[in-house]
Amino acid sequence: MSNVRVKKLEGAGAEITGVALTDMDAEDLTAVQGAFNEHGLLFFRNQSLNERDHIALAERFGRINVNRFFASHPDHPEIALVAKEPDQTINIGGAWHTDHSYDHEPALGSILVARELPPVGGDTAFASMYAAYDALSPGLQKTLENLNAIHSAKHVFGKSKGYYEQQDKDLNGRIGNADSAEQLTDAVHPVVIRHPLSGKKALYVNPGFTLHFQGWSAEESRPLLDYLYGVAIREAHVCHFHWEPGSIAFWDNRATWHFASNDYQGHRRIMHRITIDGCALSPATER
Ligand code: SIN
Repeated sequence: MSNVRVKKLEGAGAEITGVALTDMDAEDLTAVQGAFNEHGLLFFRNQSLNERDHIALAERFGRINVNRFFASHPDHPEIALVAKEPDQTINIGGAWHTDHSYDHEPALGSILVARELPPVGGDTAFASMYAAYDALSPGLQKTLENLNAIHSAKHVFGKSKGYYEQQDKDLNGRIGNADSAEQLTDAVHPVVIRHPLSGKKALYVNPGFTLHFQGWSAEESRPLLDYLYGVAIREAHVCHFHWEPGSIAFWDNRATWHFASNDYQGHRRIMHRITIDGCALSPATER
């Protein structure tokens, strides 16, 4: 019998104990997968994974999706580097977002491993999009269930107005390939999805990549999007994860947002991220 224990956390996610991720048997894997399906965000402590272990772990949950924009590990292209050096100012992921919503088939999620941590700060906040949806009134839920939204990578990773491109000097190669952002056609997703693993309804818009509701102008969309974003990051829907050596977070992009704090200026923070392929998203109105 598996020793995996699942402790639900306040706000979002669950902490998993009783398993070494390098040594999961079939029962452990079923228990971890079950917890992931239910909570969409798992934290592990005191793990010891080298790069190959990290890749092997990700492959147990799906096919690896190599991010187009992030610099990768020199020996392991499957691993994206989420890095900040002491002399760099901006961090990667330092605003609320969910990864890859600009893709037509958004990535399932990511496994983030802490490699070098600052002495203080550098936490990551996560917000539950199940809780955000559940907090809305039935009337607004119903309205949103009939809407789609447009998501894009251009204003973040693209060339002319891309957020990262404008920080080129400070980024120093951490983010690149702006041309490919320009070539991507914007993606359309339901505003409320039927989560592919849990079957629950989740809010699926985010401040990082959502431009506007389909058929609405950006100006018309702004007030409602801002309202939804405010609900999503209520403290009751958020958890703050403090990284320690051996910490791992495994999140589902379709059920959560995340935000990497940039409060450790003058220190190094190196994280290794592997992203796993996802699927096209169905509206909540579909069963
Ligand atoms: C990210 O994937 O957005 C980075 C998260 C982190 O570095 O904590």
